[in-house]
This record gives sequence, C-alpha cells and structure tokens, in this order.
Amino acid sequence: NTVYVLNGPNLNLLGTREPDIYGSDTLDDIAGMLEDRGRELGLEIDMRQTNHEGMLVDWLHEAQAEGAVAVLLNAAAYTHTSIALLDAIRAIRTPVIEVHLSDPSTREDFRHVSYVGMAAQETVQGLGAQSYVAALDVAARLQNAT
Ligand code: DQA
Repeated sequence: NTVYVLNGPNLNLLGTREPDIYGSDTLDDIAGMLEDRGRELGLEIDMRQTNHEGMLVDWLHEAQAEGAVAVLLNAAAYTHTSIALLDAIRAIRTPVIEVHLSDPSTREDFRHVSYVGMAAQETVQGLGAQSYVAALDVAARLQNAT
C-alpha cells in the first residue's frame, strides 16, 4: 500500500527557500510527518524530488505500473505550465492529488492556472507542510472508497 509523493523543481531547497511563503520545514521534515501519518493509515510513503519535468512524467507512469495507491503531486512551478503533466495524470488510472504549501490562487496571476488541477482528483493547498498530511488523508479516503 504505497503512496508516491512527487515533488517538483526547487522543493529540494525547502526550509531555506522563501520561508515566509513556504515555511521552515524541509522536505525531509515533511517526509517524516507523512511517514508518521502513513503508519496510522497503513500506507507506505515513497517520497521523491526532481527539478526535471520529464522525470515527473516518468514517475507518474511508474506509479501506475507499480500499483501505487495514489500519488501526491506538488509539481511546483510546472503546475502552471505543464501540459505534459496534465496528459500524464489523465493517462494513468492511479488517483493523483495536487498539493501546494502556499495558496497559488492568492499569489501572482501566473500561478492562477493549474494544469495539474485540471486532471487531479482533488487539490489541497495553503496549509504549509500540513497540506501534504491532509492530502495523505484524502488518499486514504479515496482508497477506502474503492
Ligand atoms: C508551490 C506553488 C507554486 O506556485 C510554486 O511555483 C512552487 C511551490 C507550493 O507548494 O506552494 O514552487 O507548488
């Protein structure tokens, strides 16, 4: 029962990157929070980060091939640009939940469009690191509904 947690560009710098917007938790801190919550939910966490768009596409395909329960996807800036990610999410049956630390809808206009959101089952955003934990709860709910 594995949930893939896929993180896009610049999220490797979480903790020091614009902490006023993204908070001071690192990606490793978030992985720890997810593992704790996952243990309660009976879900394994496979946490990954890449700065490369095509790698995210490959990992989405892999999630389906490996039978992942769900994908939590913070595609970062590719959220707002990537038709390839939109198509990849539509190409797989694995449910994808869009995650953001900040609330892009309250930020610059160019963050108001989400290609990921057009294909994702649900979106959780604006809760800081807790967005990931809340998204994991959504994944557990979707799993129990099927
Ligand atoms: C983000 C929001 C995006 O607009 C931005 O490009 C990011 C992070 C978030 O988690 O709040 O890199 O996905």
